[in-house]
Amino acid sequence: MPERKITIAIDGYSSCGKSTIARAIAARLSYNYVDTGAMYRAVTLYALRNGLINGRNLDADGLIDQLEDIHIEFTFNQDTKVSEILLNGENVELFIRHMDVNDWVSQVSAVGEVRKKMVKLQQEMGKGKGIAMDGRDIGTTVFPDAELKIFMTADPDVRAQRRLDELESKQISASFEEVKENLLQRDHEDMNRSESPLRKALDAIVLDNTNITREEQLEFVIQLANDLILRKK
Ligand code: DC
Repeated sequence: MPERKITIAIDGYSSCGKSTIARAIAARLSYNYVDTGAMYRAVTLYALRNGLINGRNLDADGLIDQLEDIHIEFTFNQDTKVSEILLNGENVELFIRHMDVNDWVSQVSAVGEVRKKMVKLQQEMGKGKGIAMDGRDIGTTVFPDAELKIFMTADPDVRAQRRLDELESKQISASFEEVKENLLQRDHEDMNRSESPLRKALDAIVLDNTNITREEQLEFVIQLANDLILRKK
């Protein structure tokens, strides 16, 4: 009998290492991995490149009008074994982590029509189960019936340092203060928007990784996943 496949939803605050853990779990279980933050980042990049963000304003109506022209998909990089995001066929993986995208992504992702389109795509990607997806609303809105829901959190200083290290590894320069302020600001906006705000699902398990290693986190989540996979329906 084929092994039971489950849906793993990983939500939480900015820069908690959600993607790292979700990607590692997917690799261990041979599941698909989807980074939904990358999808909202790619839409933000589109808005920046197409004059929909001018100075301090996002032209939300203009963005909604152009939503049909925005095609988001993932491609699997065989060399790095990582799935990368395509915006209208262009691999934009290198551009979506820059500070200009960081500065606008929460506003773009608060636009209801944008969320509707992304959620639909995400549900499509996960319909066969066997998926680990990370974001802000996966356990609450995208897959409210996911078998395993994790809600990640960590101390803001630890998160800022991790994000700074990640940026440095990609040769993107930023200061600790700037990164910390940006992630706290995004958390605030993500928790307070009206459309599917960042919330812990009632049945999500909290994982605070301030003081635990990546390996410990992975073992913790893998154990939970395996218990569910082996459990009879
Ligand atoms: O995970 P990330 O930092 O790359 O996400 C970037 C932004 O996208 C984040 O500030 C909020 C938004 N986002 C969202 O609203 N819903 C998701 N499922 C994923 C991300």
